[in-house]
Amino acid sequence: MNNMEFNKIFAAVLLAGIIAMFSGFVANKLVHPEALEQDAVAVEGGAVATGAGPAKAPEAEPILALLADADIERGKKLTKACAACHTFDQGGANGVGPNLYGVVGNQKQAHAGFSYSGSLNEQGGNTWTYAELNKFLWKPKKYASGTKMNYIGLKKPEDRASIIAYMRTLAASPVALPSAAEISAEAPKEEATEEAAE
Ligand code: HEC
Repeated sequence: MNNMEFNKIFAAVLLAGIIAMFSGFVANKLVHPEALEQDAVAVEGGAVATGAGPAKAPEAEPILALLADADIERGKKLTKACAACHTFDQGGANGVGPNLYGVVGNQKQAHAGFSYSGSLNEQGGNTWTYAELNKFLWKPKKYASGTKMNYIGLKKPEDRASIIAYMRTLAASPVALPSAAEISAEAPKEEATEEAAE
């Protein structure tokens, strides 16, 4: 008898424990349904991130192919964003930044009378080629972390192309536009087809 009583009590306690555990599990799912949702979102997010990913370009989009047809007048207007620090006319004064007349195709950090950071030639050689200007103007601080140019950069490839095409005209004899070979060297074929698909 005593044993039976004990067994019943034991069984009841066990059952209560199981019920408590199970209801805890259910309650947990009810109270924290986001634990389930989170997974679903993470999978979706992962899929988006590996897709077109318009949010963050890992590097400056190629622009050499855009230069020949770039809107020079628009480029001139866009230099308002630079005018706080730069003059563009021949013989113009240095300000916060150096005068930029003749900068396209010229040596980097070469304008007389300006005290440069010295960091602009850390990558991509010593010449402001179209490709180097493209990368620099995309994100100056990413191009040269030590640069004195406190400017966020130009996100849109067309804007960079327009400004560079305008700056090209600011020279006694503007450097040649990029050749077909230079253009295809800048933009590998796969990337070019991806861009066309967008
Ligand atoms: C807040 C001021 C500021 C703004 C705005 C700014 N720059 Fe600069 N820029 C500088 C400074 C300072 C330097 C020198 C950088 C160094 O020495 O590291 C510089 C350097 C440059 C150079 C390299 C010049 C050389 O002789 O090597 C180019 C090209 C240039 N800027 C273009 C632009 C363009 C185009 C814009 C507008 C889209 C712009 N900058 C906006 C301050 C500015």
